[in-house]
Amino acid sequence: GKVAVLMGGKSGEREISLISGKAVLEALRSRGVDAHAFDPAARPVWDLAKEGFSRAFLILHGRFGEDGTIQGALETMGIPYTGSGVMASAIAMDKWRTKLVWQAAGVPTPRFRLLNADTDFAQVVAELGLPLFVKPAREGSSIGVTKVESIEDLAAAFKLAHELDPLVIVEEFVAGQELTAAVLGDTPLPLVRIEAPEGKYDYQNKYFTDVVHYHCPSGIPTDREEAIRAAALTAFQVLGCRGWARADVILRADGSFSFLEMNTAPGMTSHSLVPMAARVAGTAFEDLCVEILKGARL
Ligand code: DAL
Ligand code: MG
Repeated sequence: GKVAVLMGGKSGEREISLISGKAVLEALRSRGVDAHAFDPAARPVWDLAKEGFSRAFLILHGRFGEDGTIQGALETMGIPYTGSGVMASAIAMDKWRTKLVWQAAGVPTPRFRLLNADTDFAQVVAELGLPLFVKPAREGSSIGVTKVESIEDLAAAFKLAHELDPLVIVEEFVAGQELTAAVLGDTPLPLVRIEAPEGKYDYQNKYFTDVVHYHCPSGIPTDREEAIRAAALTAFQVLGCRGWARADVILRADGSFSFLEMNTAPGMTSHSLVPMAARVAGTAFEDLCVEILKGARL
């Protein structure tokens, strides 16, 4: 039957979703799937049922798509879709609640707290040290994220994040190697190590330059690779994720590691990390897309 590739949407990551979606669309078509682009920002999502789509490949990034809202509509229409269900999508979109679940489940995550307009910044710095990361809880692709080096910069960082989301978290800085851990089905994929000049792993450089270098195989010690891959599967399962997702992780020099967040509709652009990990595991991009589509559920 007809497959809708849900792409675009109205989040801050719309531009990236359109790039991911185009790649997925072409890959599925090259494997003989009757795939069609569908942008819920341009048309009511309810048209999917009227137009006879039998499945949806969900590659909307950010709010109003990666966050359980569209998943709920698809449930209501009875159209199976790729990736996580309503609850896991909603929790994973929210970095604060993700970290609360992980804490409770024993998945290591950097120390954090919520920031409000009346928060005592001196106390935050006393608790979490400097530098700090200030993040809107429900954004992606580093949008609205600031690395704060001095207490004087906290107010501006809070304001920037708060303009995007009333829910703002502040997180301790963890020095170490940046890794991503993708899960496909029930299988953790090889880790990807991200090598970026200090402070340069931002929106622009994630997608549009070649400033950042990626390593897969990651080159980290085998026992760390295995421990992180196993922990990524746990991190995925305790959130109730399904199908596929990608966790972002920091590995410290002492071998300990912390999970930053889970992306339930991760990027599928030419610069993206899940396709890289799948390739190293022996799965071409086209086959990865078919595999994800096969996992479509209600
Ligand atoms: N939020 C972006 C798309 C990612 O995680 O890849
Ligand atoms: Mg993210």
